[in-house]
Amino acid sequence: MSDPTIAITAADPGSGHITPPGPPPKANPPPKANPPPKECGAEGDILAVRGLRKTLGEGASRQTIIDGLTLSVRTGEFLSLVGPSGCGKTTLLMCLAGLYGADDGSVHFERQRVTAPPRGVSVVFQDYSRSLLPWKNNLENVLFGMWRTAMSEAQRREKAVELLHTVGLRGYEKHFPWQVSGGMQQRVAIARGLGAQSRLLLLDEPLAAVDAQTRAELQDLLLDLARRFNQTCLLVTHDVDEAVYMADRIIVLSRRPTRVVTDLAVPLPKPRDQLGTREDRTYLDLRHEVITLIRSMRQAA
Ligand SMILES: Nc1ncnc2c1ncn2[C@@H]1O[C@H](COP(=O)(O)OP(=O)(O)OP(=O)(O)O)[C@@H](O)[C@H]1O
Ligand SMILES: [Mg+2]
Repeated sequence: MSDPTIAITAADPGSGHITPPGPPPKANPPPKANPPPKECGAEGDILAVRGLRKTLGEGASRQTIIDGLTLSVRTGEFLSLVGPSGCGKTTLLMCLAGLYGADDGSVHFERQRVTAPPRGVSVVFQDYSRSLLPWKNNLENVLFGMWRTAMSEAQRREKAVELLHTVGLRGYEKHFPWQVSGGMQQRVAIARGLGAQSRLLLLDEPLAAVDAQTRAELQDLLLDLARRFNQTCLLVTHDVDEAVYMADRIIVLSRRPTRVVTDLAVPLPKPRDQLGTREDRTYLDLRHEVITLIRSMRQAA
């Protein structure tokens, strides 16, 4: 992939132009790094989406899912994305991960235009039972996500074991995904996402299929991992409480064709706490605002 931040200007030696006599020309100033094109996003943005449009389907059933969507994610940020059911959240993640091409507009990851799955972006899907490979054990599933990393076989193995321990699966390395609970399978999927040494983790409703107690535990695990690995995360969730609890910022999307309706900072102290944070006035106000917004979109439908 070419680097859009680098532009090359060349002198034209063959122009035949004769320089008139006079004082010697001033030495050229040292070359300055070209400022990145504006569309690549501001300094400190890991991801920049500009005017994205995406259509899906064939013939008469072809529909515009995303239209004119613009957003950016800052390095190290935890961003929650919420929106009405079926508005195009998964489609958006597919575009961000380079799994779908844009029909119009652009996606830049670390200032490089995304035209194929970039190194450094991982996706954790909701349906762990389909995203984990059932013929590989938990350790092998994590190793599978690490094939693009610049590590030796032994280093990968050591790292994969360490990650499984970090997500609370010590002693389950040799188990197969179908031999452990749903919450444990999603822990394997999270470890795999981290093992890929991604700089951006895209999470598509990763906790939707687990019970309430496991969900709270995994929320805190994700927040802890994001902090320890300085991991930028973009979380899609249906659960407004989860969106507020986890995020530094929340983006609310409109109905289809989707675009950004509002962008809210979450100025809640960290680390978050399942009791204290959820009783905080700021938390309750933000929750109220987001639910009201989504409800108004549903009523207008
Ligand atoms: N491959 C496809 N071909 C045609 N239409 C598709 C395809 N994938 C998704 N769609 C349509 O695009 C729309 C948005 O789907 P998408 O899964 O992105 O929404 P979502 O916001 O993630 O939904 P949910 O809230 O249920 O997770 C839906 O109407 C869906 O039917
Ligand atoms: Mg979805």
